[in-house]
Amino acid sequence: MTPAENTKGTLAMDSERRADEVITHEVVFPQDTNHYGTLFGGKMLSWMDKVAYYASTRFCGQNTVTVSVEGIDFSVPVRNGDLLDLHARVIHTARTSLVIRVDVFKTEMPYTSERRLSHTGYFTFVALDDDGKPRRVPTLLLETEEDRRLFSLGAKIKEHALSRRKSASR
Ligand SMILES: CC(C)(COP(=O)(O)OP(=O)(O)OC[C@H]1O[C@@H](n2cnc3c(N)ncnc32)[C@H](O)[C@@H]1OP(=O)(O)O)[C@@H](O)C(=O)NCCC(=O)NCCS
Repeated sequence: MTPAENTKGTLAMDSERRADEVITHEVVFPQDTNHYGTLFGGKMLSWMDKVAYYASTRFCGQNTVTVSVEGIDFSVPVRNGDLLDLHARVIHTARTSLVIRVDVFKTEMPYTSERRLSHTGYFTFVALDDDGKPRRVPTLLLETEEDRRLFSLGAKIKEHALSRRKSASR
C-alpha cells in the first residue's frame, strides 16, 4: 500500500501524489502518413492524447476524459519510418481536473541515438464518477523547483483554455 492508497487499495483523493512519467513508443508506418509522406497530424494528436490519458488515469486511479488540448505546433515534420518516444506527466491538478504535458521526441532514419524534441502539448483531463459527473482528483505533490515551475505553467494553460472557452461561447 502506497501512502496515497487507503486500506481498500484505492486512491485517497485528499492525499498528495507524485506524478510518474509515462513513456510510450510509436513507429511511423505508411498508413500513418498523408500524401506528402509526412505524419498525419490527427494521428499524432491521437497518440499524444492516448499517452496523456494513460498518465492521467494512472495518477487518479479513476476514469478521466479529455476536456481540452492546448499549444500543439506542427513545426517539425515527422516522416515514414521515424521512431517516436512520447513522454507524459501530470504537471497540474485542481479540484476535478488535471493538466498533462506530453513531449514527443523523434529519431530519424538512419537510426542513431540522437533524439530531437518534435512536439509538445498540454492536455486537460477531468475525472468522472460512475454517473459521468466530475469528481475530485488527488493533489499533485511538488518536490522540486522544476515541479513548481511546471505547476505554474499548467495553471496558466488551464486559465488560457477556460478563457478561450468563454470567449468562444459568446
Ligand atoms: C468533462 C465534462 C463532464 C465536464 O463538464 P463541465 O460542465 O465543464 O464541468 P465543470 O464546469 O464542473 O468543470 C469540471 C472541471 O473541468 C474544468 N474544465 C471544463 N472545461 C474545460 C476546458 N475547456 N479547459 C480546461 N478545463 C476545463 C473546469 O475548470 C473544472 O475544473 P476544476 O474542478 O479542477 O476546477 C464535460 O465537459 C464533458 O462531458 N466533456 C466531454 C468529454 C469527452 O467526451 N472527451 C473525449 C473527447 S471528445
